[in-house]
Amino acid sequence: VAENGLNGWLRYAPLPDELRQHASSLPSRAVIVALNETETSPVYVAGKELQAGLKGVLGYTLSLSHNLNLSASTNSSAIILVGTLAAYNLSVKHNVSTLAADGFWLNVKGGQVTILGQNERGALYGAFEYLSMIAQGDFSDVDLVSSPSAPIRWVNEWDNLDGTIERGYAGASIFFRNGAVVEDLTRAAQYARLLASIRINGIVLNNVNANATLLTAENMDGLGRIADAMRPYGVQVGISLNFASPQTLGGLATFDPLDPSVVGWWTDKTAQLYQRIPDFAGYLVKANSEGQPGPLTYNRTLADGANLFARAVLPHGGVVMFRAFVYNNHLDPSDWKADRANAAVDFFQHLDGHFLDNVVVQIKYGPIDFQVREPPSPLFAHLPHTNAAIELQISQEYLGQQSHLVYLAPLWKSILDFDLCVDGQPSLVRSILSGARFGRKLSGYAGVVNVGTNPNWLGSHMAMSNLFAFGHLAWDPTQNPQTLLETWTRLTFSLSPTVLSTVTSISMASWPAYENYTGNLGMQTLTDILYTHFGPNPASHDNNGWGQWTRADSTFIGMDRTVSNGTGFAGQYPPDIAAQFEAPATTPDELLLWFHHVPYTHRLRGDGKTVIQHLYDAHYAGAQTAQGFLAAWAALRDDDGGAAGAGAIDAERFDDVLFQLTYQAGHALVWRDAIAGFYHNLSWIADEHGRVGYH
Ligand code: GCU
Repeated sequence: VAENGLNGWLRYAPLPDELRQHASSLPSRAVIVALNETETSPVYVAGKELQAGLKGVLGYTLSLSHNLNLSASTNSSAIILVGTLAAYNLSVKHNVSTLAADGFWLNVKGGQVTILGQNERGALYGAFEYLSMIAQGDFSDVDLVSSPSAPIRWVNEWDNLDGTIERGYAGASIFFRNGAVVEDLTRAAQYARLLASIRINGIVLNNVNANATLLTAENMDGLGRIADAMRPYGVQVGISLNFASPQTLGGLATFDPLDPSVVGWWTDKTAQLYQRIPDFAGYLVKANSEGQPGPLTYNRTLADGANLFARAVLPHGGVVMFRAFVYNNHLDPSDWKADRANAAVDFFQHLDGHFLDNVVVQIKYGPIDFQVREPPSPLFAHLPHTNAAIELQISQEYLGQQSHLVYLAPLWKSILDFDLCVDGQPSLVRSILSGARFGRKLSGYAGVVNVGTNPNWLGSHMAMSNLFAFGHLAWDPTQNPQTLLETWTRLTFSLSPTVLSTVTSISMASWPAYENYTGNLGMQTLTDILYTHFGPNPASHDNNGWGQWTRADSTFIGMDRTVSNGTGFAGQYPPDIAAQFEAPATTPDELLLWFHHVPYTHRLRGDGKTVIQHLYDAHYAGAQTAQGFLAAWAALRDDDGGAAGAGAIDAERFDDVLFQLTYQAGHALVWRDAIAGFYHNLSWIADEHGRVGYH
């Protein structure tokens, strides 16, 4: 049963009998042909995966061959073929449409299944796609050509070398312990398998607040072992760098990016890494942010800093992800014009066109920091001559830390589908990220995951839908969050319609509910932001140096980010959008307090309620919704009291989720009372329904 957590959506559970009947088109004597005999090749792995999946789902024991001609002579009536287009070409003439790198063609016609990848990785993705169909009882004929929206589809792990994980909520690191790479990399390989199944092609292994000792000879050997464990799944490894390493680790007098000794140091280190890991993906760099060292120390630009690494990896084909999360974390709250939200554009706009072609600027989805509701970072609109990637956070740092169910795909879609109207032209964030809008070749998606040794990876079975959705949206951001969720639910829990409708309805309601009982109307999450980032602490949202402010007093609430009277942030958007955010009357209610400082008695556009009454009502409604999650899940329990979830979910996972939703139901009440009470005490405005305050 523990395997169910480890396998996530790759359980390959036996199909119920009524669905198995449809499998008749796939003969139980089919032969799997994987056109590569090297055991560590993704195509070979795809063959093995097909073998294991068909065994699990249908109970078939299929033989695996590596030669198309040989297997044709085995007389089998059906062949499940997987390979690269190039390998297939050698034996068969075909007419497959063009595929982008990592893309695949999946053709199912009766018992003949053909899975061809543009490269080995693509072939593996195609095999997983086919297995996903079978595991959902779908045996229809298909002819699917699928290519990724963008080449960068990476996960970031914030693992420290001592084995802890920054903002990780699922136990210790699967990669590091006591300053070194762990001996047993079984979990690393299992994680790579999960990542490949959602078409992730790169992983940055260590914390963005990076430790230079990752670059000792011993640790580089360890990184080589991790790369070996993940390579069969087509997942390339990269690392986060500490900008000061030439000084702190290398003993040089400086880490100035233009100093020849520094350039030489990085060139050598990089060559040593590539010697161990020829397909090393590249570097992720957090510079001059939250106390991290960077080029600004030497009056060099952030582009100088990024290009230093870009030149080092260029001859080896590597990429540099350079983070745009640069801001002053000692802002003065008494300065009405100060605004952390302005930082990304202020620091990067003028550098557009100054980055080398293998640099990608990695931008958090919103201007602050992974809050429950943010407008898209305006920086996406300002880099037409620079590669860009979006940084999303699967790890629920401000969003309940996996103790709360919050399905994040709808939040991400609110950003990806946003039209920034650059130069008055349609400019969806997702078409900037695909490279289409500005004609960029290298761009994409980075997701901060922070899996740990917990047997279900994220510390919550339900949270795995976020990882699943992240990979699939990076591949194709036009996908519907609910459809992705339904696929995930069938694969993870059960094909039962009751389970499907329950998991779907509570998950789809979860982000709006969390927003309602934490911080609504664009006022940020209202968690404690000084230390834990967990639980209610509205008071911490003012008078801090971090620049995360609500500007609440006894009469007014919200940040004035207008050009006319505030921080000017609204003006960082292209004119059509800037005009919309400049006035309360045209700002969507859900972002009202992000952009405007208004009296508690200000009336909302949508329902005409006052801000304070909305705040009370939303907190009560959100907490109420969370009570409903628990009730809905509990209703899946079998009538006989056996915790089997409509006869389909094993007792262990059923109980785990029940426990989580019980906690969430209780904590949502704590949130409701803390926030509603806080603003009541501040504004002294009564709740129309008499629920808040003393009576
Ligand atoms: C947040 C988070 C930090 C992290 C930082 C970053 O502030 O709390 O732990 O280091 O983001 O993304 O760099």
